[in-house]
Amino acid sequence: MLFDVDQLTFRYEGNAALNNLSLSIPEASRVALLGANGSGKSTLLRVLDGLHFGASGVARFRGEDLSEEHFADDQWAFAFRRQVGLVFQNPDAQLFNPTVFDEVAFSPLQMRWSKADIKERVMETLDFLQIGHLKDRPPQRLSGGEKKRVALASVLVLDPAHDQRAHAPIANRKRFLHRVICRLQIPQSQRAGPVYRTGGAVCIR
Ligand SMILES: Nc1ncnc2c1ncn2[C@@H]1O[C@H](COP(=O)(O)OP(=O)(O)OP(=O)(O)O)[C@@H](O)[C@H]1O
Ligand SMILES: [Mg+2]
Repeated sequence: MLFDVDQLTFRYEGNAALNNLSLSIPEASRVALLGANGSGKSTLLRVLDGLHFGASGVARFRGEDLSEEHFADDQWAFAFRRQVGLVFQNPDAQLFNPTVFDEVAFSPLQMRWSKADIKERVMETLDFLQIGHLKDRPPQRLSGGEKKRVALASVLVLDPAHDQRAHAPIANRKRFLHRVICRLQIPQSQRAGPVYRTGGAVCIR
């Protein structure tokens, strides 16, 4: 299992946000987490990212407990962060660097990639998400959707294919990103006017 959660309870100051929750997420699956406002979706994602720890029960990533003890082990935490990224619901809570470029370069810098690798990979990720032209802009001065793209870029930049990147053709890495963000991009052919239709929804740009 990629993630499994067993009888997990999490409380904010005594109020249970997750109550005796159990679930499993298999490897290579794409899962949508649905529920009413306040039902605990973001709390669960924070537990799965090791930002919150349950009062009882257990959450595991590939069979290993997401415990405070494990996260206190730098090597373990480093390997986990290399594999699991969380895009925050509110990008303002995630973006804190002076420019979009710095924001997306932050995690690779923590991972001590070479400067040349960071520059290439950050620009590749920004261009892929069609925000390359915003690289020098402070994240606070972006639209809501652009902020979301920057938050997404700052997680996708660490894609797990990176370790093989020296040998992987660019097309493979792009296919990987495509699988992850699944139709986020709007085909060029549909960008004819300021208002257009895609899949039944009206989009304004
Ligand atoms: N920092 C916090 N302190 C106290 N209670 C909180 C905090 N964050 C969330 N809660 C409460 O925990 C419960 C679950 O919140 P959570 O943010 O996980 O819901 P959600 O399913 O992500 O909701 P939404 O659809 O609105 O994003 C709610 O009752 C909420 O009021
Ligand atoms: Mg939420």
